Amino acid sequence: MAAKIIDGRKISVEVTEELKVQVEVLKNDHGLQPGLAVVIVGDDPASHVYVNAKEKKAKELGILSKKIVLPADTTQKDVLKLIDELNSDDTIHGILVQSPPPAHIDEEEIILNISPAKDVDCFHPYNVGRMLIGDDEKGFKPCTPHGCMVLMEKSGIDPSGKHAVIIGRSNIVGKPMASLLVQKAKGANATVTICHSRTKNMEEIVKQADIVVAAIGKSNFVTADMVKEGAVVIDVGINRVEDATKKSGFRLVGDVDFASVEPKASWITPVPGGVGPMTIGMLMKNTIVACCNINKIQLG
Ligand code: GUN
Repeated sequence: MAAKIIDGRKISVEVTEELKVQVEVLKNDHGLQPGLAVVIVGDDPASHVYVNAKEKKAKELGILSKKIVLPADTTQKDVLKLIDELNSDDTIHGILVQSPPPAHIDEEEIILNISPAKDVDCFHPYNVGRMLIGDDEKGFKPCTPHGCMVLMEKSGIDPSGKHAVIIGRSNIVGKPMASLLVQKAKGANATVTICHSRTKNMEEIVKQADIVVAAIGKSNFVTADMVKEGAVVIDVGINRVEDATKKSGFRLVGDVDFASVEPKASWITPVPGGVGPMTIGMLMKNTIVACCNINKIQLG
């Protein structure tokens, strides 16, 4: 039986429409415009593509977007100085420094210096801690894992009581995904296992999953023999593989071997067009949350 496709593009349009209404309310009832600063250091082409997409979405929503491009040899001190300025800029409610920065930049120190109130990535330990204890109702949720949760919610998939197996333990996806899924909360309540590079018998574990979240950055890693019949498969991977037939010389593939896994799954996200579009939507949502929290506004 073919799986149902979780259409991230369609769901992200729905989310965009909801957010547009919130931006309108902030403008009309409170005279406020949410503002997002996106900082990019260096010229990594993939990072520039992502940053441009964030800027485009912000503009579509009526969010003020400030893109700051710094040369690859910018010093740590100068990045920190910029963060300080953005922390005290009243027109800016969200600050994001695109990852990965050049090797000489200490990313951890940058994150620690972003005001937790403006940390729309939800990377600051204060916000990570709040999320972990489930105290994030009015706070931030990390964009990619939150996008995965919303994809399931809007597709009518309830993780409650299900065994969710996450492949990958990154701070951006794997660990926060586990935290969101395990919460005692509507749309969560899963039993969670995290697999990673040192996991023994990974295949056996993934095969027990009702929900598989693949986030390891290895193209086509999850194959049909690893997946239980009827599992929900969420593919967070965005990997570039050479493709001479494409103008760009590459195409994007996920961490899941879509062709072999799709017939076994009940639901599956495609790449591209699955998790990717949701990440940006959740960033915009966090920017609106930041604007509301900073201005002590509660939207209905
Ligand atoms: N690079 C890849 N994904 C992300 C993200 O969600 N936030 C930031 N800041 N950088 C990224």
